[in-house]
Amino acid sequence: MSHQGEQDYSLTFDRLVIVSNRLPITVSKDEDNGGWQFRQSIGGLVTALTSVLKKRKGMWIGWPGITEEANLDGLLARASDELGYTMRSISLDKEELDLYYFGFSNEVMWPLFHDLQSNCNFDPAYWYEYQVVNQKFAKVIAENIGPNDYIWIQDYHLVMVAKELRRLGVKNKMGFFLHIPFPSPDAFIRMPWRVQILEALLEYDLLGFQTPRDRNNFVYCMEAVLRGFRVDTRRQVATISTPKRKIQVGSFPISIDYKEFASVAASEEVANMSNQLRRAMHNRCILLGVDRLDYSKGIPEKLRAFRNMLERYSDLHNKLALIQIVVPSREDIPGYQTLLSEIEGLVGEINGEFSQPGWVPVQYMFRNFERAEILAYYRASDIAVITPLKDGMNLVAKEYCAAHADNKGVLILSEFAGSAIQFRKNALLVNPYDIEGIADAMYRAYEMDLQEQKWRMRKLRRSIARRDVYWWVNFFLQTAASDVAVPR
Ligand code: G6P
Repeated sequence: MSHQGEQDYSLTFDRLVIVSNRLPITVSKDEDNGGWQFRQSIGGLVTALTSVLKKRKGMWIGWPGITEEANLDGLLARASDELGYTMRSISLDKEELDLYYFGFSNEVMWPLFHDLQSNCNFDPAYWYEYQVVNQKFAKVIAENIGPNDYIWIQDYHLVMVAKELRRLGVKNKMGFFLHIPFPSPDAFIRMPWRVQILEALLEYDLLGFQTPRDRNNFVYCMEAVLRGFRVDTRRQVATISTPKRKIQVGSFPISIDYKEFASVAASEEVANMSNQLRRAMHNRCILLGVDRLDYSKGIPEKLRAFRNMLERYSDLHNKLALIQIVVPSREDIPGYQTLLSEIEGLVGEINGEFSQPGWVPVQYMFRNFERAEILAYYRASDIAVITPLKDGMNLVAKEYCAAHADNKGVLILSEFAGSAIQFRKNALLVNPYDIEGIADAMYRAYEMDLQEQKWRMRKLRRSIARRDVYWWVNFFLQTAASDVAVPR
């Protein structure tokens, strides 16, 4: 379907209501006048949903990112005017944020769903506040919707919202998309509230996962934990039937705004920055890592693999460098602080052991970057090294390819990233726990001739162009609309 094409779902629902933990804007204090200001968040999801929300005169409900008590009505009205759709904010105080966001969302759901159980803290206080905040979201949604609006809830922070809405008597169609992986039963059954979580998910009409594996894991967990339902997996979108209702369950791999990415990457500004970078690196081969600070991203594993490569392939000394960008995130959680120290320790060790005058093997940066700068790093680098221990999709892999209009560049990708399914033939897939395997893949990427690089990159880019984020939105909403005949 073309991006501009008439969407079938537009005939089925009045408005689209998107609900996510964060609003698509970042609110901050204006240093000059002490008032509040906003900046639109960047990212494919916001861009893609904005275009649908504008057409559908939709609404986005979420937390504005501050815990201070503030009247944001004026600011949200201005933001809504500017962006072309309505925004409603959910205010959260510091305690709610600590227990619901840092606590249950990011110390229970996040590590458990990424198969990293040792990072879990199953504190019952987290669970109680998670429910309270999900109720709070449900209340604001119920106050702001019409009877024929479609409600689309995003991600693991808000699993319980449909259940709370049903309790309030809301009968609207509701969809849920999980941006992170869904674990296998072996991991999931450790969750003390496993029954409540699965039962709450059955209150949606459509459940979307990133990959068929996640979707299947969800079905296996259902079979392991609950009784009294039937599953039909014969079609691409499976159905689960309970005595009360039918739920569609599918996989919808998320993507990026490919065209927009490729065009900004091709701009003169980005080209100039990229040339400067290459000069600064003395035209050495650049390996690049761009990761949010997170223990699921496999950053220490990547650094160890790079060290292993330098140990085993001394012919590469002085010929290449790893630029590792780490974007600050969730630093209030103790595990993230420990990770930061580990990364900084490893960078120090590697540089201490291998640096020579004029050559620093690891260039490490821990800060936020403008998007144009990141694109320049993508363009300037020869090899992307993406080694998550587990990842819902990993959009850096898609962004890196979209930025390489010259079809040069090699993608080294963890087989445990959702995107590995789409890229398995043309990326160099690695097991992030296999340090020597990653080191060998780095060496192989360094040696890869231009013809093979181009042949692989062309295919990678083509597959991203074909299934961009607009395709993802349409696929999900059309599936939601196709369900209107299913009785509740
Ligand atoms: C992951 C999650 C998103 C989340 C993002 C940034 O990609 O799936 O829902 O917004 O990380 O994390 P943060 O905690 O800063 O929102």
